[in-house]
Amino acid sequence: MRNHIVAGNWKMNLNAAESQKLIEDLKSKKLSSDVRVAIATPAVYLATAANQTANSKIDVAAQNMHQADSGAFTGEISASMLKSIGVHTTLLGHSERRAYFHETDELLAAKVNTALKNGMEIIFCFGEELDERKSESHFDVVTTQLRNALFHLDASQWSQIILAYEPVWAIGTGETASPEQAQEMHAHIRAVLAAQYDDALAQSISILYGGSVKPANAQEIFSQPDVDGGLIGGASLKADDFAAIVNAF
Ligand code: PGA
Repeated sequence: MRNHIVAGNWKMNLNAAESQKLIEDLKSKKLSSDVRVAIATPAVYLATAANQTANSKIDVAAQNMHQADSGAFTGEISASMLKSIGVHTTLLGHSERRAYFHETDELLAAKVNTALKNGMEIIFCFGEELDERKSESHFDVVTTQLRNALFHLDASQWSQIILAYEPVWAIGTGETASPEQAQEMHAHIRAVLAAQYDDALAQSISILYGGSVKPANAQEIFSQPDVDGGLIGGASLKADDFAAIVNAF
């Protein structure tokens, strides 16, 4: 059985007091024991968030990390720094990082290698843009993103990888992929993994869907056979909404 996972991506939102309150509110909610729960907070709150969640079912994740182990990289954060504050999971490759910070597949491959070398777990984000969906190249685009950033890995390294398919046209737009569109792409991703590795590996990888998931649509999306959870942006900033999405499985 694959893990069901719901991860919140807070992006660059909330002040310190709001961050602490949201975590306390989440801790007070009943969250399904069948679902793994993670929150990717802004980097400045990670240490506090890791302490706040230490005895809870909530894991804390970084939104990004640098590909170097250490050095003269002003403003950046390394894998070992994250681990030293109790953070063992990071998002990589979010479409906003790709679009606004010029993160390429090649750079992401380097970040993936550094994260794995440091024993981090990765929630690897990818997905097509609207024009790519309209021109029906979305399957090829996604295959290429996976190949360039991840297919150099050994099968054994995939135990540390969670995939998050996020069609860019559905992120923060209120436009959600239909459950059928999500299922179709997730099945494609699993088929590509099976072709590159084998069926056992493909069946073992949790593939999350992201893009305007809300309490109102979570159940339908999560009921698809190849959708193993969600990466939640806007709706992860409200404890009630995020808990409702976690409990939608
Ligand atoms: P959204 O963001 O839920 O606000 O669309 C998802 C994401 O960017 O991970």
